[in-house]
Amino acid sequence: MKKVLLIAAAVSAVSFAGMSTATASDLTKKCKSCHAASKDKVGPSWKKIQAAYGDAATLASVFESGFAVDDRKVAAAEPKFKKKAKTMTGQYKNLIKKQVGKGKFTYNELAEAIFAK
Ligand code: HEC
Repeated sequence: MKKVLLIAAAVSAVSFAGMSTATASDLTKKCKSCHAASKDKVGPSWKKIQAAYGDAATLASVFESGFAVDDRKVAAAEPKFKKKAKTMTGQYKNLIKKQVGKGKFTYNELAEAIFAK
């Protein structure tokens, strides 16, 4: 009986880990090849993105409305990033829009993770 309980506990621990309990750093893990907290890499730093958007809700609404290049505030301010907008458009489709569609996280959770950096 004890063994059965242990197995049940182990199974529920595994399914819990598989649920959407992603932390802020999990949500931005795949962004790290191009984004860092306070230094520009391939893309602008999270700090720069925070300064450009002001709050997570504003960034979330730009994500949600399709992340059009004309709505991107960093690209609007910095021509060198505007030139690289296409790179981010591909990332947006695969790493953001598709994942939100699958219910992995919401636009708001992602924006908040960026503002938590
Ligand atoms: C292959 C590199 C790459 C990856 C991976 C990547 N980005 Fe970017 N990102 C860029 C580049 C280049 C820019 C600058 C172009 C632009 O602003 O559209 C950018 C810009 C941005 C901006 C600012 C847009 C603006 O101009 O206001 C946000 C927000 C952003 N990325 C979020 C993310 C998030 C969130 C992830 C992970 C889910 C991610 N990026 C993954 C390359 C990348």
